[in-house]
Parts: sequence; C-alpha cells; structure tokens
Amino acid sequence: MFHFLCASTKKEASRLAADLAIDLLKKNPEAVLGLATGSSPLDFYADLVEANKAGQISFKKVKSVNLDEYVGLAPDHDQSYAYFMHENLFDKVDILPENTHLPSGTAKDLDAECRRYHELLLEVGTPDLQVLGIGNNGHIGFNEPADVFPENTSAVTLTESTIRANSRFFSSMDEVPKMAISMGVGEILRAKKILLLAFGTAKAEILEKALFGEVTPRVPASILQTAGEVYICADDEAMAVIREKHGAIA
Ligand code: GLP
Repeated sequence: MFHFLCASTKKEASRLAADLAIDLLKKNPEAVLGLATGSSPLDFYADLVEANKAGQISFKKVKSVNLDEYVGLAPDHDQSYAYFMHENLFDKVDILPENTHLPSGTAKDLDAECRRYHELLLEVGTPDLQVLGIGNNGHIGFNEPADVFPENTSAVTLTESTIRANSRFFSSMDEVPKMAISMGVGEILRAKKILLLAFGTAKAEILEKALFGEVTPRVPASILQTAGEVYICADDEAMAVIREKHGAIA
C-alpha cells in the first residue's frame, strides 16, 4: 500500500519524510533504522540532525543498518558510503558508533562478508523504517535489474548505467567501483515501514514504472508494490509522469 508524501520541492517533501521519522523516533527511541546514501536523503538527514540538535529526538538507543557499500573503498575514502553516513548523519547526532552498521567494502572474502552482514541484520532486528532511494534504472540499494530478486545480502556487479551515474562523484571512470555489497530485496522488505525518496525529472519515468508497472526483477523497485506500508516521498518533478498517466493521485 502506497502513501504519498509529496510537495513541490525536494526540500519541502523531505521535511514530510523527516516528520515521519521524527514521529517514529519520538514514539520508539529504540528504533532500528535502515539507511540509504545518495543525494536523495540529504535534506532528510539534515532535518533529522536539526531535530536532534533541537532536542526533539535522540539517537542514543537507535540502531542503524545501511543498505550497501562499494567494494574496494575503505571507510575513510571520501566516496565510501561509510564516509557519507558519518558526514551527513552519524557525526552530527548522538548515535553510538557501535550501533551503526554497514557492509565492509574492503573485506577479503566477499561471500563471507555477505553472510556476516545477513546474520548481523537478523541480530540487529527488523527495521522500523527502511529508507530507500531509487536508481535511474530502478535499483534499490544496489540491487540491479536482473532475472531474479536477490533475497539476501550479496556482492553485486554494477551495470554500465549505474557506473556512469556514479562517475559524477569520481575524478575518472577508472576510479568508479564496479562492484558493491548490497542488502537483498528480501531483507529490505522485512522493514515495518519503507520510505522511498525520489526527486527530480530524472526519476519521473522510473518512479511511474516502479509503482504502477509490472512487478519484475528488471525493475527492482517494483517489488515495493508487494510490500506492506510504503511511503513515497517525491517532489513535483519526480511525480510528473505518474500524474500524467494516473491523474492527481497525490
Ligand atoms: C546509488 C545507491 C542507491 C541510491 C541511488 C540513487 O546507486 N546505491 O541506494 O538510491 O544511488 O542515488 P541518488 O539519490 O543520488 O539519485
């Protein structure tokens, strides 16, 4: 079931998403949060940081699990997702470092690392809220279009289109990681609530396909049609194709 949190701009829509998370943390200060990286959650995280500074919410008892990490990048690499999380959330709120978790991009044995992360997810517990962005090709986490939905954490070979999209953050194409470790679709769907953030014209086509098209591993985000409570946070640009094809649903 989809609930829409829509506003004209990314900033305004992100505020609605942040209110959802703030409300959840007020009711359950021991919540487990599934977290995402990328440009989509930036304003959302900034609002959470502000709410924490203002004393509205505390992260002291919160546990977090991140969706994914690039293979080959250590946490101190400025393009690693671990670095991103420290810059944009962890170092700015009162979360305890030992309660934050990401897959390790530098693990020697990738399969063992995937198994470790799967076990860790079970141990940390069911996320109360899983934050997601959506890739231009419909990926969630780094679950790329494929023949089947990956169930559990796995090492993923990134598609050409994702490598190209990510290259904006690296100085040369050679430096862009070609693999990642990503939470699987089955693990993502365990969350009690899912919050998908999509902003800008580039996401308009794929958002419509994911939410209203066929449920297929060729569009990994389409699996959200089968999930329980899903909040779609989008700005006017990202909602354009949905509104064009399905009317003013939000
Ligand atoms: C990367 C991440 C995804 C993210 C996607 C979209 O591929 N692995 O989790 O959703 O990028 O990024 P952005 O939010 O910058 O559009």
